[in-house]
Parts: sequence; structure tokens; C-alpha cells
Amino acid sequence: MKTLIEPFRIKSIEHIKMTTRDEREKFLKEANYNVFKIRSENVILDFLTDSGTSAMSSDQWAAIMKGDESYACAKSWYNFEKAVKKITNFKNIIPTHQGRAAERLLFSVVLKEGDIVPNNNHFDTTRANVEFTGAEALDLVIEEGKKPELDYPFKGNIDIKKLENLLEKESGKIPLCMITITNNAGGGQPVSLQNIRETKQLLGKYNIPLFLDACRFAENAYFIKKRENGYESKSVLEIVNEMFSYADGCTMSAKKDAFANIGGFIALNDEEVTKKTRNLLILTEGFPTYGGMTGRDLEAIAVGLEEIIQEDYLNYRLRTAEYLGEILLENGISIVRPAGGHALYIDANAFYPHIPYYEFPGQALCCELYLEGGIRGCEIGTFMFGKKNEDGKDIAAAMELVRLAFPRRVYTQTHFDYAAEVIIDVYNKREGVKGLKITYEPEYLRHFTSDLERL
Ligand code: F0G
Repeated sequence: MKTLIEPFRIKSIEHIKMTTRDEREKFLKEANYNVFKIRSENVILDFLTDSGTSAMSSDQWAAIMKGDESYACAKSWYNFEKAVKKITNFKNIIPTHQGRAAERLLFSVVLKEGDIVPNNNHFDTTRANVEFTGAEALDLVIEEGKKPELDYPFKGNIDIKKLENLLEKESGKIPLCMITITNNAGGGQPVSLQNIRETKQLLGKYNIPLFLDACRFAENAYFIKKRENGYESKSVLEIVNEMFSYADGCTMSAKKDAFANIGGFIALNDEEVTKKTRNLLILTEGFPTYGGMTGRDLEAIAVGLEEIIQEDYLNYRLRTAEYLGEILLENGISIVRPAGGHALYIDANAFYPHIPYYEFPGQALCCELYLEGGIRGCEIGTFMFGKKNEDGKDIAAAMELVRLAFPRRVYTQTHFDYAAEVIIDVYNKREGVKGLKITYEPEYLRHFTSDLERL
């Protein structure tokens, strides 16, 4: 059959409140043109993030009822540990309340001032946690990964040559190398198994461990199955296991590819690092068999990790962003190509060539998508990065993008058809749309809380 259906039925629903354009004009104004400040009940399609926004299955809800809330060595912990080991095959599992807690704990133990951590692209919390220790977070994604228009199968790959040059000069300062799968900051693009293997071989010469930022490991594995020679007939679990076999450990946000609303972990083999990290875990997160989670969270994740590697699900999942991307491309709208696993990134510079970077074309597009159709996306550009020169003027970001990130198992094909219609409508009305100016901004991470007004 040509039609690919959602491989699930809906048992419990959340109502979507339909709003009018006039109402949304008011809500947007009240939010000072910052979509993070719009009440979610006033959003029709919420594509702000795929993190913690998944719909859980009836099996997950059933497991939640079995959550063992004992403080130490609860039954739920053993279920969680077994599920994580099945995926990663690492010896030691350390539960945390979400991904950034895993990052903070690991980096506090292994990094010090003056160190360097290479990665394809650090996600913003990963970068912030590296920098918080005084170390440098270095992005070494391949050149292809920086060109939005270019169609290339593994745009998330780390540049082996650049890594080699770095290691020749600075290996003594590198306590670990990371690879983010899929590469969220670089358009949700996958990393090939060949690239992970070659990175490991290179690092092996210098005895430097490789850690995966594994948030979207299953989506990455299915891209490998679809695109990498020799993997067409392997199961997703085999590919996942091979990915982790080249790594010495990983950090994970279970809010993504574990269908959970909260949770995360570190998994690794090194006994010394494990001991130190566990000690720190007890100080701030919790006892080593629950980290910052409840027993029911552990159960939901254990079941989620089984469900995420189902091929029917992954096939539908990756097709979703691709489907929307195809419609937009047919209508002349530029996106980061190919479509990512969890999100589609619209090129706002191409959308609004008349709006200069310092008037935030991506933010203007976010506002228009909300106004015309109640869609909430997220600007990834000059507004988000907020870098300034010595005169306090904004420095242009490398790209002006709007990320539409898709919650897992939440929206149906009709929702995506509606999204396409809204985006095309906004595109047809693009002439004359004005940029924005910031009226209040905080010192850090300004996109979350800044106020803006229309020019
Ligand atoms: N690493 C990557 C690649 C991520 O995408 C995220 C979160 C984290 C680490 C941190 O995990 O949120 O559980 O602390 N990304 C979300 C997003 C917030 O919208 O892309 P966390």
C-alpha cells in the first residue's frame, strides 16, 4: 500500500482548542512576541520541542502502575537497568532526572579548566555544561553538515581529518570525545556507523574515550538502516548495539527516544569514573538506583526503550518529517535538507530575504506561523544565540532557522497536512512582513525570556 499509516490507535486524547487569528494576535502581543511565553492551551500544533512531549503507550501507563517507589534497589530499577543494558551493553548504569544532569555529573568528574571536548555539534546544554567546568566545547561537524541546501546522507558526521589534526596537537588536553546522534544542533542529521567506527579507531591510538550523546539513538539507527551500505537487512537492535559497541559510554535524555516525559542516564564501562560519578549523584540527584526519578519513571523508560526500536514505528517516524519537507520543497520553501529525524528546519533567510539578521527573520517567521495557524516552532538563529560585538550589536548567526520539532506519536497526518497549508500560506504572504526588535533581554539564554515588539 502507498499510504503509510500511524502504527498505533488512540485510546486517550487531549483536546486542542481552536483559536481565531484575532485571539492569537492578542495572545502573541501579551507574550511580547516571544512564543515561549504563549500558554500551551492557546497553541494548536505545538512543535516547540520533541523533548518530554511524547504520547506514552498503554503498556507504558500499565508499567507506571507497577512503579516500585522503594528508596533503594526497587524492582523498577532492575527493569530500567536491564532495558538500558540491552540497548547499550555498558556495564554501569547511572540514572539521572534528565539529559543535562547526566552531562553535568559526567563533566564534573572528567573535565577541568583548559580541557577540550570535540563533538560533531554540542547541543546547547551540553556546551554550557562543558564550559561550566572551564573546558572548551569544540564543534567538528563535516563541512557538508554546514550547508543547509546540500542533500547528503550523513550530515551529522564528525570530521575525522579535523579530529586527527586536533589530536596530533592537543591530545593531552582531551579527556573525552563526544558524538551527538542524531545531530540536533546541526538539523537532526544522522551519523554513519562508519564514522563512529573510524572515530573510535582514531581515538584508540591516543587512549581517549568516546561518549555518545544518545538522545535520538534509535532514529539515528534507522537512518543507518535506510542509508548505509551493508545495513539494510540488519535489525535496528543490531545496529543500535553496534553503534554503542564503539563507544566507552553515553549520556542520554530519556525525554526523546525513550518516550518518557522525564528522565535520563549515563552508561559507561570505566569503574573509576563510575565510582566518582555515583558519589556525586548521591549528593545532588539521589540514590544510585533511582537518580532523580521515581520508580514509575524508571518503568515508563524501560518499556519506552523496547518500543522505540520497533521498525514500523521508526519507518513512520522518519517519514513524517520527510513528508512535510517534500511538500514545502515542492512549494519553493527552503529547508535544511534532507529532513531530520525529529524535526524540520525552515531556512528563514530564504523565507524573508528582506529582513536583516538583526531584525530576527526566524523570530518573525515563528510569530507569523503562530498568527496564521496557531503553530509554535522555535527560532534557531541570531535571536537564540545572542552573540554581540564590542559595541553591543548583534553578531549574525551562521544560519537563521526555525525548528519545527515533532512530539512522538502525538500528531496525525492531517495535523501535518494542516501545518503544510499554514506554512505555504505564510510563505505566500511573505512580502512586507516586518522584523522585530528586543525591548528586554536577560544576560543569558535570551530567547527564553526576552520581550520583543514589531518594527
Ligand atoms: N543533548 C541533546 C542532543 C539534546 O537535544 C538535549 C535536549 C539534551 C542533550 C539535554 O537533555 O533536555 O533532558 O536535559 N534537547 C531538547 C530540545 C531540550 O528541544 O532539543 P535534557
